[in-house]
Amino acid sequence: MSFLFRRQHLAFISRCRPFSSVGRADVDYFRTFLPTHAILTTLPNDSGSVAPAELDVYNRDWMGKYTGRATTVVKPRSTEEVSKIVRWCNEYDIAIVPQGGNTGLVGGSIPVNDELILSLANMNKVRSFDPVSGILITDAGCILQELTDYIAPHNHIMPIDLGAKGSCQIGGNVATNAGGLRLLRYGSLHGSVLGLEVVLADGTVLDQLTALRKDNTGYDIKQLFIGAEGTLGIVTGVSILTPAAPQASNNVVLALPHFDNVLPLYRKVKRSLSEILSAFEFIDRTAYDLAVKHGQGRGLSDEDVAGAQCFVLVETSGGRREHDEEKLNDLLAELLDAENPLILSGVLSQNPAQFSSLWALREGVTEAISKEGKAYKYDISIPLDKFKVVVDATREHLAERNLIGEHAVKHVMGYGHVGDGNLHLNICAAEYTQEIQDALEPFVYELVASYRGSISAEHGIGAAKTHALHYSKDEVSIELMRKLKALFDPRGILNPKKILE
Ligand code: FAD
Ligand code: MLT
Ligand code: ZN
Repeated sequence: MSFLFRRQHLAFISRCRPFSSVGRADVDYFRTFLPTHAILTTLPNDSGSVAPAELDVYNRDWMGKYTGRATTVVKPRSTEEVSKIVRWCNEYDIAIVPQGGNTGLVGGSIPVNDELILSLANMNKVRSFDPVSGILITDAGCILQELTDYIAPHNHIMPIDLGAKGSCQIGGNVATNAGGLRLLRYGSLHGSVLGLEVVLADGTVLDQLTALRKDNTGYDIKQLFIGAEGTLGIVTGVSILTPAAPQASNNVVLALPHFDNVLPLYRKVKRSLSEILSAFEFIDRTAYDLAVKHGQGRGLSDEDVAGAQCFVLVETSGGRREHDEEKLNDLLAELLDAENPLILSGVLSQNPAQFSSLWALREGVTEAISKEGKAYKYDISIPLDKFKVVVDATREHLAERNLIGEHAVKHVMGYGHVGDGNLHLNICAAEYTQEIQDALEPFVYELVASYRGSISAEHGIGAAKTHALHYSKDEVSIELMRKLKALFDPRGILNPKKILE
């Protein structure tokens, strides 16, 4: 009894200051329903604590840019356990960071202070799959690749695919509204997610885990959690529509002499391949060379790429292999034979291994950059004809400040999802430094805003871009977002200082 009084008093005081730290009493409470292996804490504890280094993997992001100071990670196994943890934290003013696969690129999954990390990793069961409708209902902690493997024997695929598929979780994908490599064909998660189960900030379970294609019964509340980055609720279950697997998939990597050819090529490819076109991805020369240097996929021959300024990966997914191959071969012949060819060369995959290898050239760019140095990542939506302008302007801007060199900025490059109008502008440096950061911001954001673009096309805002939200959202929108946050999470315990400052 006296303990509860103490905690309630502390909770009252804590509204005047940030949040309560996780204490021994909290861990003791979690131990009443979580097994030993589901709690990692560095706090001295009768039931055992772990060395601080064991928490590094949770406290540090994929890029090595953000570091948290969490003392405790909990890994609930059920929605009920998530609910108990969240209810307790809400009552005692303990802030929570939901964490999926920790592959996010904007620092959203890392505590800004010593928040409790709630990992969804132990919520990893498929709840049901209907091979007729293709509707998959799953725990939020299932890894994307594992879901892909689960439905493959039923000839279905996930509507989303990304380079982090081996680690990212479906709940994390929903929370970030991840885009990825299949968006051109299957649209965004706002369309394919049919229902969600969410633990709200006071521990209440919102059950909207329906399997309905159509449901116009008022406000579509689940949409708010898609892309909310764990600031409005913790996603524990996902109902998602999975498409039938294409009977045939092909891909080709094309080398282009100039960036100016990308858009005419895109128009031509769309017209020629029409319904079988499933991806049109862009890699500039710098990104391509880095991917090859760091062993990501098989490159074209030196002869093929001589003089190439950039590359495009085209994928087709269709119903009849012969028909699709014929269309692709006709397109290639047409591209190469033209009086002013749009491409220098092209490599068409001949078997599944080559198919994966060509994809790896594009998917592997992120990994290659991380092997080369430290990445400043700008994930922007801008008009397609400005892709090169923005990369060049950024490079020039850094050069004017003498920031290009082996010990400063090593490479400035662009790659991304042309079909979605999404450029990944990446600056790869020897180290993260304030000088480079100051040179890049607000420069990049102002450039994006001048084209009425978005400062985050698919990675989210996280901790990295809260200060820049106003470049893409007006004050009316931001105020509404604040009101929604206050409505869903009045005490602000869910992923504080993410999305909104
Ligand atoms: P985390 O990184 O753990 O978390 C991301 C955010 O979601 C955090 O704010 C976290 O608090 C919140 N969150 C996580 N799980 C939940 C939950 N269950 N409930 C509520 N909130 C939650 N992104 C793209 O959009 N497209 C790409 O093509 C792409 N490619 C990538 C390639 C590589 C190599 C890497 C490393 C990353 C890539 N990403 C891409 C970024 C990242 O993989 C995605 O944002 C992914 O959706 C994050 O999933 P995660 O499970 O790792 O989430
Ligand atoms: C990609 O498209 O490769 C991802 O979004 C990751 C990145 O931007 O590096
Ligand atoms: Zn991307």
